[in-house]
Amino acid sequence: MTRVSVPPTYRVHRRPWGLSLLADIVRSRADHLAFLERCTRLDADFVEANILTHRLFVVANADAARAVLVEDTKSFVREGNLESAGIKSFLGEGMLTTDGEEWLRWRRLNAPAFTRAAVAGVQPIVDDSLERSFATLPRGRIRLFDAFLRVAVTATTAGFLSARPEPDEQDALVDAMLGGPEMVFAIACARTTLIRHLPLPLPRRVQRATAAVDRLLARSAARRRAEGAHARPDLLDLVLQHRDPTTGQPLSDAEVRDQLVTVVIAAPENIATTLSWAAYALASNPRVLATLRAELATGDERYLRAVIDETFRRFAATPMVDRVAAVDVELGGVRIPRGSLVVVPIAALHNHPRFWDAPGEFRPERFLVASAPSAWLPFGHGPRKCVGERLARLVLESALKRFVLGFEWSRGTNAEPGFAALINLRPADRMRMWVERRAATAQTARLSAAG
Ligand code: HEM
Repeated sequence: MTRVSVPPTYRVHRRPWGLSLLADIVRSRADHLAFLERCTRLDADFVEANILTHRLFVVANADAARAVLVEDTKSFVREGNLESAGIKSFLGEGMLTTDGEEWLRWRRLNAPAFTRAAVAGVQPIVDDSLERSFATLPRGRIRLFDAFLRVAVTATTAGFLSARPEPDEQDALVDAMLGGPEMVFAIACARTTLIRHLPLPLPRRVQRATAAVDRLLARSAARRRAEGAHARPDLLDLVLQHRDPTTGQPLSDAEVRDQLVTVVIAAPENIATTLSWAAYALASNPRVLATLRAELATGDERYLRAVIDETFRRFAATPMVDRVAAVDVELGGVRIPRGSLVVVPIAALHNHPRFWDAPGEFRPERFLVASAPSAWLPFGHGPRKCVGERLARLVLESALKRFVLGFEWSRGTNAEPGFAALINLRPADRMRMWVERRAATAQTARLSAAG
C-alpha cells in the first residue's frame, strides 16, 4: 500500500493584540502566560500577532509544535529568540545558546555525561549530596523555593563536577539564580547587555554572583587537571579532555567555563521550580500525599514518578519555548515570514481541555493508566530536547522522596501563590511554607541508611 502524505492545513487566527501582549508583560510578569493561554483557546492552530515591529506566531496545535521543534529545525532556530540575548550574557557560548554546527559540537561533547549509564554512575554522589542538604533544610516559615534551589545547586554541582561548592560560592550561585531571571528578562526586553554593567543593586548582585560561579568552575577545573580524570569520566572530565576536531587544541579556559556554566546554572532553577510546585500540589491534595506516602512505604516508586509527571503537566517549569524563523517558511498552509518569533506555549498546552480531562485537577493517576497525549512536552521536543532529563528526574525523585518522608509542610492558606514567570514558572512568593521535620518513621530511617 502506498501512503500519500498530505500536509495538514492549519488554521491561523490573526489578532491585533500585540500591543496588549507588551502591556501585559509590563503590567505583570505572569500575564504573558495568560495571553498565551487565551491564544490556545481560540479555534485555530496558529495565532498570529504583531508586537511593535515583531511578528509573533503562537502554536496552538500539538502536531504543529512538533513540526516546529522536531521536523524543521533548520528553518526554526533558537538564535535571536526571546531569551537568547539575555541568557548568552550569562551562559556564554554553550549548548543552550548556540545553533547549527557549533551547537552540534557542544551537544556531542556533553551527551556522554547524560546517558543512562552516566547518570546511574553519579547517583551515589547525588544521593549523598541530597542526604546532606535535607539534613540541614531550614524549618519554620521559609521560602521553600530558595531552600530547594540550594538543594538543587549542590546536587547538580556534585553530579557534574564531583565538587562541593564552598559556602560562599553556594550562596553566590543561589543569589545569581534568584536575581538572574530578572536580569535575563531585562536584557531580553531591552535587547542590550549594557544593563548588566549599570551600578544598580541587581546588576551588582549578579556581577558578584557571576564572579563566584567563575571561581567555582575555575577551581574545580584546576583541581581536576592536577588530580587527573576519573575512572568513569564525568562532565568536567569530558570538557577538559575535549580536543578541537580541526586544530586538536583543548578548550580555552573561557570555553571550559561556558560548557560547565550552562548546566550548573540552567539545571537547578527548573528542578527547584518543579519541587516547589510538587510540594504545593501535595499540600493542597492530602489524598494524593497520603497515597504517595503509602506507596513509598511499600518501596513502589511508580506513584512518585506519576506525581512528578503531573507536576510537570500542571505547572510546567519551562512554560514556553520559542524559535525564530531563519527563512520564510510555509507550514501546513500558514506563511511564517523570516524573522518571526514562533512560540510553543508548553504550560497552556499542558492545561488545555482539548488534550486533557479536567486539566485543573491534580491527578497523578492519569500518568499511571494511559500514555501521555501529544500535548506533553515538559522537556521540549526534537534534537534540542532537554539533554538533562535523566539527571533532572533522578534528582527530582530522590529529593521529593526525602522531602515527603522526612517533612511536614503547609501554606496556611488555600490561595495559589501565582507565577513570577520570567523564564521558568517560579512561584510568585517563592513558595512560602511552614516546614517541620516529621517524626522519624521506618521509611525515613531506611532512606537515611540507604542514602
Ligand atoms: C525539571 C527539570 C528540567 C526541565 C523542565 C527542563 C526543560 C527544558 C526544556 C523545555 C528544554 C528545551 C528548550 C528549547 O527547546 O528551546 C531544555 C533544554 C535544555 N536543558 Fe533542560 N530542563 C530541566 C532540567 C535540566 C537539567 C538537570 C539540565 C542539565 C543538567 C538541563 C540542561 C538543558 C540544556 C543544556 C538544554 C539545551 C539543550 C540543547 O539546546 O541542545 N535541563 N530543558
